[in-house]
Amino acid sequence: MKLFVYNFNSGQESAFFEKYANQFGLELGFTSEPPSIENIELANGYDYVNVMLSPVCKEMLVRLKEMGIKMISTRTVGYDHFDLRSAKELGLHLSNSSYPPDAVAEYSVMLMIMVCRNIKLMLEKGNINDYSLNHLPTTNMSEKKVGIIGTGKIGTGVAKKIKNLCKEVLMYDIAQNDEAASYGTYTDLETIFKTCDIVSLHTPMSPETKHIVNAERLAMMRSSAVIINTARGSLIDTKALIKALQEKQIAGAALDVIEGEEGIVFHDFKHDVLPHESLSILQNMPNVIFSPHAAYYTKTSIEHMIKNSLESLVLPKNKEDNPWFLV
Ligand code: COI
Repeated sequence: MKLFVYNFNSGQESAFFEKYANQFGLELGFTSEPPSIENIELANGYDYVNVMLSPVCKEMLVRLKEMGIKMISTRTVGYDHFDLRSAKELGLHLSNSSYPPDAVAEYSVMLMIMVCRNIKLMLEKGNINDYSLNHLPTTNMSEKKVGIIGTGKIGTGVAKKIKNLCKEVLMYDIAQNDEAASYGTYTDLETIFKTCDIVSLHTPMSPETKHIVNAERLAMMRSSAVIINTARGSLIDTKALIKALQEKQIAGAALDVIEGEEGIVFHDFKHDVLPHESLSILQNMPNVIFSPHAAYYTKTSIEHMIKNSLESLVLPKNKEDNPWFLV
């Protein structure tokens, strides 16, 4: 069987693609480009397609179906970049992937401590040999009440890791789970936004969760509170976040994702004007940390995401026998 891979990162992914393509009997073709209407023909003659994070719209799905593609897998856990409904209508199978939650959970905890200790400023000063400690004193994680929104595998992992690091863990999810409940207390969204010092987002992106952090909820937050987002950019209304930071309604943010990040993250703009106005504004704020959707980025996660997104293509096409099967 033949698999065409989009968004291929030759530096980090080659060895794992080679290993698991061999294991699952797949012959590979690659491009580093994201899938688009212009380059979708590259997949002609293949059985399967593999992508990462980039939107796959109806037009592309129609063409892929016409070409005889049997299934498309994404190397990500989140699959909000897939048009699930159109794929189902077309009878084109889709699957996602999985990897241990630790990389993203650990990274989220790291960002929490980084914002509490104002590391951005400390590192910037250090870069110009300014070792003075004359900026405002930072704050202890042990004094913080942390609100976790979304208690799937990653949110639960964060709760587990921070329960002994912070003062209190509050959590919100539409579906509660017993393991998370052993690390903290479930409550409503309003209580989280009104009372927590740190609000950390771990919920999937969907029409229901889009802009779950909006102007109204930002206005509820304490002026000393910070937001952590390692999930999806569109969970936050970025314009409202910028306004809240400018007006000092909240104290800071650590963002590993941002709305409109496609074409920005995983690219080098060192010698260029950054084509993302909101990110340019946020990057200039001393109390905002941004990283390029890198929370997952460990050897272990990369290996699992490639293995599972390839294995899902060769497993039976139903949810009972294929844990990554979507439609
Ligand atoms: C996901 O798995 O959904 C992510 O957001 C990480 C991805 C870039 C591998």
